[in-house]
Amino acid sequence: MLNPPKILQHFLLFYTIIIILLQQEVLSSSSYSSSTCDDDDHVIFSFPKFNTSNCKPGGGLLCMGAISPGEGYLNMTTVSSNSSSKSNFNSIGRVLYNKPIQIWPTSFCTSFSFKIFPHYNEIGDSGDGIAFVIAQDNSPSPNQSFGSYLGLQDPLLEGKKRYQQLAIEMDTFKNEWDLDDNHIGIDTQSVMNSLITKNLNSSHIDLKSSKLIRVKIIYDGWKKEIQIYVGYEGNLLSSFLNQSLRLSKIVPSQVYIGFTASTGLLAETNQIHDWIFSSTKLPENSVMDNKKRKIVLASVIPILGCLVLLALIGAPIIRRRMIQKRERIRRMEELERQYTAAAATPRKFTYKQLAKATKNFSKDNLLGSGGFGSVYKGEREYLAEICTIGRLRHKNILQLQGWCHENEQLLLVYDFMANKSLNEFMAGQSFLDWKTRCKILTGLASSLLYLHEECGDPVVHRDVKPSNVMLDADFSPYLGDFGLARLLKNTTGVTTILAGTVGYMAPELIYTGKATTESDVYSFGVLALEVVSGKKASNLIVGEGCLVDYAWDMHTKGSLEECVDPKLSGNFDKNQVIRILTTALACLHLDSNMRPKMRKVLAVLINSDEPLVEIPETRPRGIYVPLYGISNPFSGSNTA
Ligand SMILES: *[C@@H]1O[C@H](CO)[C@@H](O)[C@H](O)[C@H]1NC(C)=O
Ligand SMILES: *[C@@H]1O[C@H](CO)[C@@H](O)[C@H](O)[C@H]1NC(C)=O
Ligand SMILES: *[C@@H]1O[C@H](CO)[C@@H](O)[C@H](O)[C@H]1NC(C)=O
Ligand SMILES: *[C@@H]1O[C@H](CO)[C@@H](O)[C@H](O)[C@H]1NC(C)=O
Ligand SMILES: *[C@@H]1O[C@H](CO)[C@@H](O)[C@H](O)[C@H]1NC(C)=O
Ligand SMILES: *[C@@H]1O[C@H](CO)[C@@H](O)[C@H](O)[C@H]1NC(C)=O
Repeated sequence: MLNPPKILQHFLLFYTIIIILLQQEVLSSSSYSSSTCDDDDHVIFSFPKFNTSNCKPGGGLLCMGAISPGEGYLNMTTVSSNSSSKSNFNSIGRVLYNKPIQIWPTSFCTSFSFKIFPHYNEIGDSGDGIAFVIAQDNSPSPNQSFGSYLGLQDPLLEGKKRYQQLAIEMDTFKNEWDLDDNHIGIDTQSVMNSLITKNLNSSHIDLKSSKLIRVKIIYDGWKKEIQIYVGYEGNLLSSFLNQSLRLSKIVPSQVYIGFTASTGLLAETNQIHDWIFSSTKLPENSVMDNKKRKIVLASVIPILGCLVLLALIGAPIIRRRMIQKRERIRRMEELERQYTAAAATPRKFTYKQLAKATKNFSKDNLLGSGGFGSVYKGEREYLAEICTIGRLRHKNILQLQGWCHENEQLLLVYDFMANKSLNEFMAGQSFLDWKTRCKILTGLASSLLYLHEECGDPVVHRDVKPSNVMLDADFSPYLGDFGLARLLKNTTGVTTILAGTVGYMAPELIYTGKATTESDVYSFGVLALEVVSGKKASNLIVGEGCLVDYAWDMHTKGSLEECVDPKLSGNFDKNQVIRILTTALACLHLDSNMRPKMRKVLAVLINSDEPLVEIPETRPRGIYVPLYGISNPFSGSNTA
């Protein structure tokens, strides 16, 4: 047992430490004057007026993207006199001071002025705005960071990697997540998830007024607080926003600072005029994290002792409280579960919500920069999709998030797919390494197995092809577009219209018009050949595909690995290649009954000990037309 006088001693020591700390805090914060940046002794750089030489080597700035310097200003994004010119849209400008700056431990002040010339569309929108940025390095804005991203880094854009930045955004377009189209916000990881935003109405400032607006940002390194001042040039700046934040937790000590701006489907000129930055270095211990922790730890020990004492006295009370708390947590968890379950089912959106989220359904926004999700426009066929896909849940099936049925149109909303579809790859617009290719084929096989065998009544996708295989930021595949999918039992005995995509359609389909799980297997075979070889199997009509012929020839010669995409330059697993290609050829068997089931295909893909499906040495010739015709799609006899 601790004896009471000892505890008292420890307490006195603890309070003394606290008082010393508090005094230090008060003294230091009063030592930092913060009226204007110029008052500070340590001006690091100043551009009283931008000019055309600033972007040239030695001009002090790194200008990237759409920056065009004028006399007295820099256009970060601009509207050319030809209002339909492509450069007005989806443009990104980023300008950084050309040397790294130490940002902590310091107190700093920066002041700049800018003008925004809106270029309103029919419904009175203009976008997207400008941001002051503190960035971990001097890399350019991500290629896709136009529009709502304001040229900033975002986890949705580059492989979900964590990028360290702090941005003060002056936002002129209201996105789904924004409060209005005239606000200032502080962002770290993503514009969609600001630390704080505040609209400028109460300050009587209109960002899109085309007037010169001044913003001053002060960071108090002692108080760990950022203060934003704003006003029209010539007026007094007024305090707009205070936010406490620890810069040392957000960005590295050495950073690049500057501005970014962007336009999306709306045009706008974002123009900066001048910029000054000053800072005062603070002693290392102003970061204080470690030191403070040590001091706190030293004082925690007596507190702990005290707590033990209290616990002994108050144990019964505390126990009752804890039981109550546990009950509360349990109830919360239950609610959360219910909520998640409800949120997971597709929901209905209004046309207006979608129009806003996708900037009026522009083509560029499909699977693009909206950050909201892809939206497909569809006809009646897609009703099938809501019914079919709405109940399917698999990690490799594109999840329907909701739909909208208005204005005689049906629109479907899916998860956002950062890497679009396998089509980009087939069109040679992106490169996939061998591991990724295997991951895609395995995921796809797994989703087809689920459709064919594991989700209740078998579902036939009917249109397996590269453009229906969506890829997220990690290149995980998602089978999408269930516009043609049908429950197998609904099609039995019904002659359906020939549907599917030539080149991926099993040959018997052309004669029977009836999609089966075996015809999906055939399409998978074509796709697997394409993914491995990087070549398109198009013009492949009823067994006349040169890619397939080539693969068979190579199989006959015993050198299947010749089919592999030369772009992989030998970086692949030869054994795996042979396993995949042999299985693909088996899937392409002209006799649908000889094709393996997806369960077998998946087993071969994920287990290197799984025996391969046997295939003949040379390509079988002839076309097999199953005789089952109308009554039984699973009966076996064939004719050549
Ligand atoms: C351009 O601006 C820089 C930095 O403010 C200044 O040093 C330079 O003299 C200016 N050049 C011209 C041509 O005005
Ligand atoms: C900058 O933008 C303004 C307004 O759109 C335009 O009049 C001016 O020509 C632009 N200057 C440059 C150098 O692009
Ligand atoms: C304006 O730009 C568009 C798109 O770049 C181009 O097709 C058109 O010819 C241009 N018009 C003029 C008058 O330059
Ligand atoms: C971004 O675009 C540039 C120029 O078009 C290109 O060189 C670069 O590879 C692109 N980066 C990515 C990650 O796509
Ligand atoms: C700010 O004012 C604009 C224009 O008057 C208005 O459209 C907007 O809704 C206002 N924003 C807020 C948050 O009140
Ligand atoms: C921010 O803090 C300063 C000084 O601490 C104070 O004068 C100012 O009113 C505050 N501004 C806002 C918007 O809260």
